Amino acid sequence: MPTILVTGGAGFIGSNFIRYWRREHPSWEIIAYDKLTYAGNKSNLHDLEGQPNFTFVQGDICNREELEPWLAKSDIVVNFAAETHVDRSLLSSGDFVRTDVLGVHTIMECAREHRTGLIVHISTDEVYGPILDGSADEDEPLNPSSPYAASKAGGDLLALAYAKSFRVPVIITRCCNNFGPYQHPEKLIPLMITNALLDLPLPVYGDGRQVREWIFVEDHCRALDFLIEHGTPGGVYNIGTGCERQNIEVVQMILQLLGKPESLIRFVADRPAHDRRYSVNWEKLRKLGWQPKHDFESALAQTVAWYRENEWWWRQIRESEEFKRYYEANYAWRLRNESA
Ligand code: NAD
Ligand code: DAU
Repeated sequence: MPTILVTGGAGFIGSNFIRYWRREHPSWEIIAYDKLTYAGNKSNLHDLEGQPNFTFVQGDICNREELEPWLAKSDIVVNFAAETHVDRSLLSSGDFVRTDVLGVHTIMECAREHRTGLIVHISTDEVYGPILDGSADEDEPLNPSSPYAASKAGGDLLALAYAKSFRVPVIITRCCNNFGPYQHPEKLIPLMITNALLDLPLPVYGDGRQVREWIFVEDHCRALDFLIEHGTPGGVYNIGTGCERQNIEVVQMILQLLGKPESLIRFVADRPAHDRRYSVNWEKLRKLGWQPKHDFESALAQTVAWYRENEWWWRQIRESEEFKRYYEANYAWRLRNESA
């Protein structure tokens, strides 16, 4: 039975990918390997627990001894494991460098030694930095702004170097902003949905006119499956949709879907070095034959409905001491200054 190892499998995109892979490739064994940081949550995989040919392993990608046996027995590795939140990287960045750079190094070293099959390393469009005009293709110079993006760029370049130097068969993907079920409530869309459901202020950074390119998480999973089949090892692939929205537009749409008033919106102090716009050129992927299926408006409505129906899931996170500490550090001063 072929085996796929999904590192970071208890996070947002990783858990959606596992569910997707299970549905599309039921004859595969799936190993979810995750450290279970504050962002990892076993309840993201609640429906898979106890199922045949599914194994959850709690482990750190930086720990070679822990990781190696799982990687050695796998035919494909998809690496989602990372510290992923820009605002947290601005509060403290040690774990970002550790996991997003050294963790990738550990995976590459194991892969080099064991001559594993394909490795898909999930990078991000944030490595290109702000794109004020046009769209970044895969040859755009990397120009990261935050410690998160810089750490991702480091991991991305290390993976590419292992492909060139040691012929490790790795594909790098750089996707735009994802949204959908099981996204941690610290990220824009789930934060705004859950704050609105709780009648709390919605903190919009700066003037709210920053632009992000959005993809429904299931389309990202489909793109990864497509690249596993059609991508060339050593290649870099942007994954995008062309669906660009200003943050304020997204927030207003959420309020409308929930029937909540715009008076909940608060414009607060901006994120330092806040990238004004991201936009990827994904012609390379389009030419291979992939395109997104979901349009933003209906996927956002579906996502809002999911959060409304799955309060059990987000409440346990929002009520944790960890989340409360983070919320206080990132938002309390912003909201205080705003109301002053
Ligand atoms: P997430 O924060 O929801 O999940 C990350 C997961 O990695 C968590 O389950 C966490 O426990 C795990 N993890 C962290 N450190 C680990 C370690 N040392 N060892 C093992 N597991 C560890 O993130 P996400 O949004 O699902 O992002 C997944 C990947 O996709 C990341 O690499 C991110 O950079 C990339 N990405 C995300 C987006 C987005 O919009 N969310 C867009 C493009 C790329
Ligand atoms: O572009 C891909 C990246 O998208 C991924 O690599 C990251 O892992 C992922 O977190 C995401 O990064 P962003 O910084 O774009 O996402 P976030 O949800 O944190 O913010 C989206 C936009 O909304 C951004 O312009 C900042 C703004 N924002 C965010 C929060 C949390 C606000 O205005 N207020 C907020 O409270």
